[in-house]
Amino acid sequence: MSKRIIRFGVIGCGLMGKEFASAAARWLHLGGVDFEPRIVAVCDANPAATEWFKEQATSVERAYTDYKELLADGEVEAVYCAVPHNLHAQIYVDIIEAGKHLLGEKPFGIDAEANARINAALAANPDVIVRCSSEFPFYPGAHQVIQWVNEGKFGRIIEVEAGFWHSSDLDPTKPINWKRRIATNGEYGCMGDLGMHVLHLPMRFGWKPESVRALLSKIVAERPDGQGQYVPCETWDNAILACDVRTADQQFPMVLSTKRIAPGHANTWFIRIQGTELSAVFSTKNPKQVSSLPYSPGKQQAWHTVDVPYKSAYGTITGGIFEFGFSDSILQMWAAFCDELAHGTAGMSQPFRCATPEEALGSHRVFTAALESERTGATVSIDWGN
Ligand SMILES: NC(=O)c1ccc[n+]([C@@H]2O[C@H](COP(=O)([O-])OP(=O)(O)OC[C@H]3O[C@@H](n4cnc5c(N)ncnc54)[C@H](O)[C@@H]3O)[C@@H](O)[C@H]2O)c1
Repeated sequence: MSKRIIRFGVIGCGLMGKEFASAAARWLHLGGVDFEPRIVAVCDANPAATEWFKEQATSVERAYTDYKELLADGEVEAVYCAVPHNLHAQIYVDIIEAGKHLLGEKPFGIDAEANARINAALAANPDVIVRCSSEFPFYPGAHQVIQWVNEGKFGRIIEVEAGFWHSSDLDPTKPINWKRRIATNGEYGCMGDLGMHVLHLPMRFGWKPESVRALLSKIVAERPDGQGQYVPCETWDNAILACDVRTADQQFPMVLSTKRIAPGHANTWFIRIQGTELSAVFSTKNPKQVSSLPYSPGKQQAWHTVDVPYKSAYGTITGGIFEFGFSDSILQMWAAFCDELAHGTAGMSQPFRCATPEEALGSHRVFTAALESERTGATVSIDWGN
């Protein structure tokens, strides 16, 4: 099979930049795909960060410290950008205006104004494919839930809960980093950091909140700066958003939560949907299990929990009896992005594409309303403009 090689540049060679390099190096894990990413150039403002790539990723031919040099590199046709949130708007706009396809990291702009700048650049350059990173829906258990929603299996929806929880910030001695400062992470705090992951599926399902009442918490006020001092930890640690969702034929409550301090949780992403005909839960806490409760009037209400097989959006060499994990979800997300680049949206070999700029915009509307709700104590309406 001849393969379409997609030549990538990576801007931001930190935690997530390395995850992409690992996924690209593991492409042989996927079965039957006729496209493959090749990272030919990398860029980080800190030259030390690119060393790992030069040593580990044999495809990397050039390393830059100025991203504009990477954008001028004619061999690079697509870019993965994983930099702090305060840099998203400028760098994403420059990538789009350079005519390079982009998988950008969430939250897709530090605030609503930054997000609008990115969307304006995209509107002026509609031929560029731009998607937002969000890997958890690629877990087979999440995929099962998506399928049930698409098939309308839930009946009348009673309520929805979705969240993304961490707990390492419970430790007050954990040093501060850019993700705990407003200047670099943004006013959204934990919502900007974690919220796109939580909103990806609700946005995909068309579950747009008409209003939101937010409860935001700051739990740890100061953190060590790594140089013997304590400095303010400015960002919201936890957020609980009570949303009122109205679709063409349904109205139901949806509770979204993003927590940096949820004791006992490390990277727990979950979705729970309760309906009159089916209820279902998937959580990365138990990554191979999906629980469901089918119901018909007068019948028993019993939860069934099954170990879902390793059945991913894109086929792999892994046997169905084995477990799926975080790096598998990253690989699947990259397969979806490269599939869309190689074959166009309509030509993808499976229908679940990466989070779109419209879905990221939806998340910004929700977070912006949540900040206003926290400030005023009121329930804030969200205008979807359509
Ligand atoms: N999808 C996910 O699961 C996930 C997980 C963690 C972080 N993220 C997102 O990824 C992005 C990056 O987070 P991270 O954890 O990789 O951060 P990180 O701090 O590990 O890496 C960021 C890198 O960007 C570099 N950088 C800073 N300014 C730059 C510039 N002007 N030009 C080029 N490089 C520059 C830094 O030197 C650093 O190496 C953020 O948007 C974050 O929200 C996504």
